[in-house]
Formats: sequence, structure tokens, C-alpha cells
Amino acid sequence: MKLERVLDYAKTLLRQSIDFGDVAVDATAGNGHDTLYLAKLVGDTGHVFAFDVQQQALDATAARLKEHELFERTTLILDGHEKVKQYVEEPIGGAIFNLGYLPGADHTVTTHGQTTIDAINQLLVRLKINGIIVLVVYHGHEGGKEERDAVLHFVEQLPQKQVHVLRYDFLNQKNDPPFIIALEKVKPYTVS
Ligand SMILES: C[S@@+](CC[C@H](N)C(=O)[O-])C[C@H]1O[C@@H](n2cnc3c(N)ncnc32)[C@H](O)[C@@H]1O
Repeated sequence: MKLERVLDYAKTLLRQSIDFGDVAVDATAGNGHDTLYLAKLVGDTGHVFAFDVQQQALDATAARLKEHELFERTTLILDGHEKVKQYVEEPIGGAIFNLGYLPGADHTVTTHGQTTIDAINQLLVRLKINGIIVLVVYHGHEGGKEERDAVLHFVEQLPQKQVHVLRYDFLNQKNDPPFIIALEKVKPYTVS
């Protein structure tokens, strides 16, 4: 038995949340690793909506999906995840965010606390009961600590009867390793 690494645990949570035929959301497509994973989980009757604000990221994601012949079950959206409710009307089986910047690209294009929180709120409304939203929080970069603290402050205030909030974090690792926040919806959620 060993403790699952952060990225492996993110996948475990998604696998537990998402069923064949579900709609899933990759809120930060980046190079498309998670979009591809979600596309496999939803199967040929499900669908994945993937967001990114950089065309470069969506191009890389499209190439990865085509390589695995899974492009058809996805919709790639060049827009911020804070507008997710304009694009996704169906119930959502699960969603993932990787906060931070796109490796190998412009490090100043990052996710931000308020837009991340707006997106979480919209996704929680659409999420199915027992569905999970996973956030992999990278916080070592410029602005990363502000976003981390804003998101932590927000999720700590979520009503516990409606949302279970988990933090999965290796506490003795150096150099600001990423950690996970997982939100499980247990009852209908309305934005107050
Ligand atoms: C850490 S990377 C994602 C890595 C990705 N999951 C992968 O598998 O490669 C974060 C991504 O979020 C994107 N991003 C930043 N702000 C965003 C927003 N408001 N909405 C959607 N994507 C955003 C960035 O362009 C970047 O590609």
C-alpha cells in the first residue's frame, strides 16, 4: 500500500465520479491530458466540454484527442471557464481544473481566484448528486498564492450539507508541490 500521488489521486476521483454516457468538463484544457482522460471515461455515448483561453492549448488538446480518435466526443471552447453555464446546460458527471499556467507557454497567462470561484459555483449547480469537482492547485508561480488562498477561503465556506470538501496534500514536500481540493455534491446546490 502506498499513498497515491496527487495526479493519480485526481484520476481516481474522476473515475469514481464519472459514468459512461455522462457529460464531463475540463475547465483548463492546457495540453489536453485531462481532456483525453475524461473522453475515455465518458465513453462513446458521453461528451466532454473543455475550456481554455489560449488557442495554442486547444490546438494541442485537439491533436492529442485526434491521435486517440476521441475528438468526436468532445467540444473545445476558446473561452474562460467562468462562462461555463453559457455553454453547458446538461447535468455534469464530474469536472477538473488544473490551476496555474500552461507548461512551455506564456507563464503570465494563468488562472485567477475570482474566475475560478465563479466557474466552481456554476459547475456545482449543474453537477449531479455524488458528482465530484477536482481542483489540482499549483501555487508556486507569481499570483499562485493569492489564487490558492482565495479558492481555499471560498471552498471552506461551502455549506456542508450540500458539498463535502476534501484537501489532499503532502505536507512535507519542498518547492510548493500541487495539492488537490475535491468537492462532492451531496444535495442540490444553489448560489446564495
Ligand atoms: C496548468 S494548465 C492546464 C494543464 C492541463 N490540464 C494539461 O493536461 O496539460 C492551466 C490552463 O488554464 C488556462 N486558463 C487560464 N485561465 C483560464 C480561464 N479563465 N478559463 C479556462 N482556462 C484558463 C491556461 O491557458 C492554461 O492552459
